[in-house]
Amino acid sequence: MASGFELMPTRPHPVTRRDLLQAVAAGVVIVGLGPFVVSCAATTRRSFSPSPALTDTLGEPRTEILRYASLAPSGHNAQPWQVRVHSPDEWILALDPDRRLPEVDPHNREAFLSLGHFIENLVIAARSAGFQADVEVVATDSRDHDVARIHLTSASPTDDPLRRLALRRTLRSGYVPEQLDAADRDDLLDRLGGASTYFPRGSQEAEWLQNAEVEAMRQQTWRDPAQHELANWIHLSRSRAERRQDGLTPETMEASWFARQFMYLFMDQDTVLKESFRERGIEAAVEQASEGAGWIVVTSPDSAPASILDAGRRTQRMWLQCRERGIAVHPMSQILEEDPWRQQIADAVGLDRVPQYVLRVGYVDDYPEPVSMRRPVEDFVTLP
Ligand SMILES: Cc1cc2nc3c(=O)[nH]c(=O)nc-3n(C[C@H](O)[C@H](O)[C@H](O)COP(=O)(O)O)c2cc1C
Repeated sequence: MASGFELMPTRPHPVTRRDLLQAVAAGVVIVGLGPFVVSCAATTRRSFSPSPALTDTLGEPRTEILRYASLAPSGHNAQPWQVRVHSPDEWILALDPDRRLPEVDPHNREAFLSLGHFIENLVIAARSAGFQADVEVVATDSRDHDVARIHLTSASPTDDPLRRLALRRTLRSGYVPEQLDAADRDDLLDRLGGASTYFPRGSQEAEWLQNAEVEAMRQQTWRDPAQHELANWIHLSRSRAERRQDGLTPETMEASWFARQFMYLFMDQDTVLKESFRERGIEAAVEQASEGAGWIVVTSPDSAPASILDAGRRTQRMWLQCRERGIAVHPMSQILEEDPWRQQIADAVGLDRVPQYVLRVGYVDDYPEPVSMRRPVEDFVTLP
């Protein structure tokens, strides 16, 4: 499933005084911590060899399709997908009830968006492997367990660039304070199906979104049940991260090398509930929300499960184009999770459709490779 896809080079990243100071600090710590640090290899995405049971039933190409599908983004990286294999070409995609986020996503709206991303990746990877994947949405209510029926048939393979799926990532820092240029803006909105809007930095709407996001983030951070839920998906111990292969880690939080070692050595789940950790999270959101090219609000005509899945699929189509254009994407969902901003957003920015995503976008000088973890395919697939 190789492709001839080449990435556009990103602008070279200048070494700053801060980088140098961090490097010096890290060097001092390496000397001081010696044996501890040696065992601290980066906790990041692994390659897996699928079990014989999986490849015997599905064959390698179908297993690879599912692996590519699972590179989809998801809220808190909870990876809420389950696939029941009825036969090699008949699968049911379901929502894993143990991977819901009831505190921030009580109606499974974001879980359905994540499943939409998963479906889009699956369809692209299937095409590239010589299959057409027909997707029939079966969920009529976002509380339904079964979400879609997937049927594979043979087709001529296309040369869809799978590296786009493998290299897509959420990026939260390092945004350049420049608006999107017209060609990039039009291309991204086109991929979103024309029903979404870009609010450039400096516009009144962008300012509303920036302030609302920070306030919604502040409120959610001090809402204890939501912070407890987040703590369950933040892994500050390497063994826990390695065991779970999901959630958020110091790497995905884009902490510096030095800060990552510190977090792994001296922090644990309880740290997430501490005042200082919460305050640092709010400070980061204030900084992030002020950076970048502005905001894209992705909308759908209604809140039916099929419409939310479609919004996820369209967003994935757009996101997969962004690295080549040097554009980073950062969903900031608190506006859509917390009242009153959730009710106010459509009027505040002048939309007559249902907002499904608030995405911060922006050019970056440096576009690092993905660092968020994924569970192995056998973890979310049930064989007949
Ligand atoms: C529906 C949805 C909502 C998300 N909301 C947020 C958010 O509010 N803040 C944030 O930093 N990342 C958010 N993300 C990004 C996820 O944290 C990210 O996709 C996940 O950690 C996996 O990382 P990756 O996108 O780099 O593969 C969201 C992603 C999805 C699909």
